[in-house]
Amino acid sequence: MKKVIRNVEMAVKKLLSGEATGHDWYHIDQVRTMALRIAKKEGGDRHIIEIAALAHDIGDKKFHATKEIGQKATRKVLKDAGVPGEELKKIESIIDNVSFSGGKIPASLEGKIVQDADRVYALGAIGIARAFATGASKRNPIHNPDEKGAQTTINHFYEKLLLLKDKMNTKTGRKIAKSRHAYMEKFLKQFYAEWEATD
Ligand code: ADP
Ligand code: NI
Repeated sequence: MKKVIRNVEMAVKKLLSGEATGHDWYHIDQVRTMALRIAKKEGGDRHIIEIAALAHDIGDKKFHATKEIGQKATRKVLKDAGVPGEELKKIESIIDNVSFSGGKIPASLEGKIVQDADRVYALGAIGIARAFATGASKRNPIHNPDEKGAQTTINHFYEKLLLLKDKMNTKTGRKIAKSRHAYMEKFLKQFYAEWEATD
């Protein structure tokens, strides 16, 4: 493995270890593996994709007081790891546009691939686990059928997660999202059946 990649990997592991809402090292590693898998079909510069995937959550708003402080933290990790200037610019522009709460689409193919890889991990079994972990960290209830639009984790499915499959950038990402989406629909069906004790 290339030394820069190894350096970024070690820095991210240290920064995000023990994070409790699904932005920990294992999330980063999954997004990296998925992004490289998507790139096998879609193309793109694998080196840029791998570093951007590894660094995509360093500057997340959850971990920093402002966006700018987050961007600085990302730049420091990449520079210290030995990422050269021209690569740094490409990678930073991917990371600035990848977050799905940001609602932007990265301009480059590499960025589109990393965004798809991150998004599919908000879906499926792992996406469900992350949603309830994040919901709990926000002290949101699981479900509240009596209050329309209540801030619950079940509502997060309708506000965000179930909309993602139509927002994928690549054909390969769309295919994976579709199957993870179907799994979430099955989960919700079972959830409501159990809620009503009709299962
Ligand atoms: P990004 O870091 O890409 O902007 P978020 O931090 O908004 O994305 O979301 C990351 C993860 O946290 C996703 O798996 C998402 O489902 C989950 N999440 C975000 N907001 C909520 C919420 N209100 N309730 C439950 N899960 C949430
Ligand atoms: Ni992520």
